[in-house]
Amino acid sequence: MKYGRDLLKDVQGYVPGEQPQGQRVIKLNTNENPYPPSPRVKELFDKFDLDWLRKYPDPVSSQFREICAARYGYDSPDWVLIGNGMDELLALVLRTFVDPGDDVLATYPTYSLYEILCQLHGCPLKYVDLDEDFQLTEEFYTTPARLCLLTRPNAPSGVAVPREAVERLCTEFDGIVVIDEAYVDFADDSCIDFPKRFDNVIVMRTFSKSFSLAGMRIGTAVANPDIMAEFMKTKDSYNMDAISQLVGLVAMDDYAHMEMNAGYVCVTRERVRQELIALGFDVPDSQTNFVLARWNGSPSAKELFERLGEQGILVRYFNARRLENALRITIGTDEECDTLLAALRGMVG
Ligand SMILES: Cc1ncc(COP(=O)(O)O)c(C=O)c1O
Repeated sequence: MKYGRDLLKDVQGYVPGEQPQGQRVIKLNTNENPYPPSPRVKELFDKFDLDWLRKYPDPVSSQFREICAARYGYDSPDWVLIGNGMDELLALVLRTFVDPGDDVLATYPTYSLYEILCQLHGCPLKYVDLDEDFQLTEEFYTTPARLCLLTRPNAPSGVAVPREAVERLCTEFDGIVVIDEAYVDFADDSCIDFPKRFDNVIVMRTFSKSFSLAGMRIGTAVANPDIMAEFMKTKDSYNMDAISQLVGLVAMDDYAHMEMNAGYVCVTRERVRQELIALGFDVPDSQTNFVLARWNGSPSAKELFERLGEQGILVRYFNARRLENALRITIGTDEECDTLLAALRGMVG
């Protein structure tokens, strides 16, 4: 089990404050959004009144849940839970529905935090490999577990399995299916309607990526009200502070701003993907705000990662099976991506 700096390095790929000194850092390693959040968030902070902090916040984020329910196509806030980042909701789902010792199922590769959360909770995480094209295999549908964690679109591949495949999983899996839609605003479609159709499905989202609010810690979960009632019993009473609730609410209310930023990111993503392919990388079609650039040439992917780091360009390298020949690159501004591409051209071109 890793702690402190090692744990941070594992989850984030870097330790804050350890960036190369005196260099302009281009941070393309944790899938943040390069564009600012809604200007309404700025207005909110301009109007900030300290008195907002004197009282406890609404324990169940009522207004915020209402606006999320409407946006997600649900007629009642009873279908929605707000969390202190999606990571809190992922930990909560284990605490609420999984006993220590129960099996949890996930694809390999997937979001690396699942393994850490399962270790902390004392429940074995069973990985079933995605196939070469990062699609689900027959074995995945037939592996029994109490809970299944499915990242769609997948991280770190960027690939989204078809909705029909998720539909089949939700029908056949005898347990709870969590669909992690952290990157869905950069994708062509979503499974946000699945909780209406399947009692065993929880869809989770985050404001860290498409809404440019990673620093606020806001996540949402959508599931039928019976599941939500269980969550309400296990969550911390005041899990969302007053500021996060307000920021989330105004950001959600300015949905068009998020869609505009996500649109910019997707355009840059397609250009970066094509340029990486022209350089000889193998880059699966991404439905996220990052690309997985696979590289079998010389210098190795690990060396590329290190040499980029020396130039202040941070990307993510996984020292892990099936990923050791790849770089995961967050889509930044066009200028940031051009700097990255120029640096790579100098190394592999
Ligand atoms: C697949 C996936 N799920 C969840 C999260 C966590 O989101 P949050 O920042 O809301 O905790 C991340 C963050 O990188 C992620 O990649």
